[in-house]
Amino acid sequence: MTDVRGRTALITGGAAGIGRLLAIELAARGATPVLWDLDEERIEPALAEIRSRTGVTARGFACDVTDRHAVNEVAEQVRSEVGDPDIVVNNAGVVSGSRLLDTPDTAIERTFAVNTLALYWVTKAFLPSMVSRDRGHVVTIASAAGLVGVARQTDYAGSKHAAVGFDESLRVELHQIAPRVMTTVVCPFYIDTGMFEGVHSRFPRLLPILHQQDVARSIATAIERNRRQVILPPLVRFLPLLRVLPPTAFDRVMDVLGVNVSMEHFTGHKPGQ
Ligand SMILES: NC(=O)c1ccc[n+]([C@@H]2O[C@H](COP(=O)([O-])OP(=O)(O)OC[C@H]3O[C@@H](n4cnc5c(N)ncnc54)[C@H](OP(=O)(O)O)[C@@H]3O)[C@@H](O)[C@H]2O)c1
Repeated sequence: MTDVRGRTALITGGAAGIGRLLAIELAARGATPVLWDLDEERIEPALAEIRSRTGVTARGFACDVTDRHAVNEVAEQVRSEVGDPDIVVNNAGVVSGSRLLDTPDTAIERTFAVNTLALYWVTKAFLPSMVSRDRGHVVTIASAAGLVGVARQTDYAGSKHAAVGFDESLRVELHQIAPRVMTTVVCPFYIDTGMFEGVHSRFPRLLPILHQQDVARSIATAIERNRRQVILPPLVRFLPLLRVLPPTAFDRVMDVLGVNVSMEHFTGHKPGQ
């Protein structure tokens, strides 16, 4: 996007966690955030915080991104009340955090509905105007779990691998039809938002639990600099190189790093968080 000043940035799951902080970060850089979130009651305090910290009047809409009819209806409302967004951040996400046999089918469906299928509904709702203007930016918040599978994340890592594939395919497709519409995929290790409460890093110097404010700042800078990927912390960038190893050797390296026991004490969001 290069210059976010005066641009409209729609962020799904924008009333909490990374989405809320990214909205504040983009507003501080001159953009107008449009927040989408499930919980209407959470949107108003987020808008008030953006206003008090940046002076920017953002907009908020309740929208369940898994409901493609609702996505299209609320997208129409955004277009008529705010205009076409210049930046769309597919940020809403959920995690189950249990082994496959302990994960209810409904939780698996929800994970893919929010983390994967919603990328299609939200992006399709806003991409036509970006393509016709040959200007815009689609950001997909995936995860380091989009680059490597992790024990207790069969649904989450599967949905995030799909998100990485979604971004990469969209990126090359847009290069053919609207080369100035950018995409950025974001693949962070665990972040201290509470979504992954209880996880553990065996080597916190190499694989630190990331601070949400730092991640939000990195994403905003990546949008401004048209970076195609944000992979945090730096060690995670090397994981794809290890794919030259046979799978059993790759798994052993991940075991040594403690990746496959990182979820042992996962609790996820505390009630009311
Ligand atoms: N936290 C991490 O360690 C981490 C690491 C790597 C990647 N990520 C990714 O980063 C993104 C943001 O994570 P976060 O830690 O900020 O999570 P978060 O604090 O749980 O915030 C996610 C927001 O998305 C909302 N949401 C969930 N389902 C939705 C739906 N169907 N429609 C609209 N909004 C919905 C949530 O609402 P409810 O609270 O009501 O569900 C919440 O407000 C996610 O895609 C996540 O997978 C997170």
